[in-house]
This record gives sequence, C-alpha cells and structure tokens, in this order.
Amino acid sequence: MREGISDYTKLTVDLRRHMWKAGVEIELRRLIWQIAVMGKYISAKIHESNRKLAGLKNIFGEEQLALDKSADEILKNQLQFSGFVREYASEEQDSVIQIGEGNEKYFITADPLDGSSLVETNLAIGTIIGIHKESMLAEGRNSLVAAMYITYGPLITMVYSAGKGTHEFVLNREGEYVLSEENITLKQRGDIYSLGGLRKDWTPEHRRYIEFLEKEGYKLRYSGGFVPDINQVLIKRGGIFTYPALVKSPKGKLRLLFELQPMAFIIEQAGGMATDGKQDILSIKVEDLNQRCPIYIGSRYEVEKAKEFLTSS
Ligand code: F6P
Ligand code: MN
Repeated sequence: MREGISDYTKLTVDLRRHMWKAGVEIELRRLIWQIAVMGKYISAKIHESNRKLAGLKNIFGEEQLALDKSADEILKNQLQFSGFVREYASEEQDSVIQIGEGNEKYFITADPLDGSSLVETNLAIGTIIGIHKESMLAEGRNSLVAAMYITYGPLITMVYSAGKGTHEFVLNREGEYVLSEENITLKQRGDIYSLGGLRKDWTPEHRRYIEFLEKEGYKLRYSGGFVPDINQVLIKRGGIFTYPALVKSPKGKLRLLFELQPMAFIIEQAGGMATDGKQDILSIKVEDLNQRCPIYIGSRYEVEKAKEFLTSS
C-alpha cells in the first residue's frame, strides 16, 4: 500500500531514516542521499530548459548545454565533493574519470538523463546510477553494491536498492523524499509487455516469444523511455521489458554498464530476473564501457519463458 505522502499528521519516513533503519552502511547511505538530492538539481535544469533540448541561447545570449550534458555536469561536479567516490563513468564521457583522491570507497556509473529526447513531448525521463565497490572494468563478477534511478514525470520518484530490497520514494512539496513503497515484490507473473526494436528486425526466436505473449493476452506498454518503462513493470508488480538482439544489431541497443546492470540489480532485489536470453545480466562481464546487450527483464515467469524461446531453435 502506498503511504499518504501529504498527510503530515501521520508519520512519514524520509529516505535517510529509511536507509538508517534498514542498516545501510553509513557512507553508502550518505552517497545515495546526495545523489537523490542531485535529482532535484537535474529536475530544476529540465524545468529551466522549458522542454527544449540543446543549442539554445539563454537570456544572456550564452549557448546552453544539452540537457543530458548538464545532468552529467551536475553529477560529476557534485560527486567530486561527496567524499565517497573515487571514479565516475558516464554515458556522456569517453572514459572513466578519476574524481576522488584515491582512497574513496565507491565507484559510480551514470546514465545522467536517459530518454532525454522525450522531454519535448513531456513524457517521463530518468537518471540511472550504479554504485560499485570496485573499479568498473576490474576483473571478476560485477561489483554493484547499490543501484538507483530517479524518474522525472508528473511526480519525481526515486527507487533504490542497496541489496536489502527495493524501495520507492516520492519527492514531496517540501523537497523531501518520502517512502511510498517498501520492499516492492514482483508477482511471479505480470500482464504487460514493453518492447523496443522494430518487428521487421526481430530474430525468429524473439518473434515467437512475442507472439506467445500476445496470445496469452499481455498488454503493450512502451513509452520509449527505459526508466519509466522499467518503473512501470516494477510498480505494476510484474510483466516484461525487452530490448532484444536485432538482426542488424545482435547486441541490441541498451548499455550493459550504465543502463542494464543497475536495473537488473533493482529488479532482482524485487524478486524479478534479468537475462540477455541465456545469461543473467548481472553475471555478464563488462569489457567495454559502452558495451551493449539484449535484455529481457521483469517477473520470473516471463523471463524464464524468454530463456526457453531464445534457447530453442
Ligand atoms: O537510452 C536509450 C533509450 O532512449 C531508452 O531510454 C529506451 O528504452 C530506448 O532508447 C528506446 O529505443 P527505441 O527508440 O529504439 O524504441
Ligand atoms: Mn540511456
């Protein structure tokens, strides 16, 4: 049940109190809180831009940065002074940037403003963050310890997981992130499907899978923004999002490090699954910052079914 977020006569749980009660390690909870605050600055930029993307002059005649670049600057500059971050890797940068002094505990990945082209149509967009305990391209299994995303829609919401469940907060009118859904748990099976890629470019295996979902009566829900599309699966407690391998782009479209692994972490913590069709998204080794990967993510039944269809020929 969603808690009332504007009835201040009742106890509301803010983000910091929630993380403290959940036993999230102190530096990690400070970092998550700082990033949530940066979401407010990014949102302010979106408002300032008045839904225009880039190449504009402001009232002083200065060229404005594209919104995704501004969001990247906000994150990079603020994280530099957080005291907890050694390296920053972002979709907007060519390489990993050393922003700390060398002894900080965490390494951050960011898709600063995913789906930014949707701003013109006033659809929701978002920021995706991964928090690692080792350098992003280090050897071994993926080193994510927490992941979060912020959705800029009719409301600003923030979803995080620090490995102790997945929780949603809503930014209230006082500028506080207030707990709205705790320990979100996906059903075994949902009833929506959200899919990218053109039908003419699908592989036969993927086409058979989608036809199966359609026969089963799944409803199509696709906005073209990865953050709200994943958020919909999470908040509706199930269903499937896929951006598959396409005949001309066998690696699909979405980026493993910046987009897929943080979302896989959040969805797995909510009892769901994420695969590229064969392997778990979180067990795929990141060899390159911009590595792309197909994805099937959501509730267990639909993801298991995807695996069945993709591995049968
Ligand atoms: O970051 C890429 C992105 O904009 C995602 O937000 C979204 O899921 C996807 O691309 C949409 O791609 P398409 O326009 O091919 O459906
Ligand atoms: Mn993106």
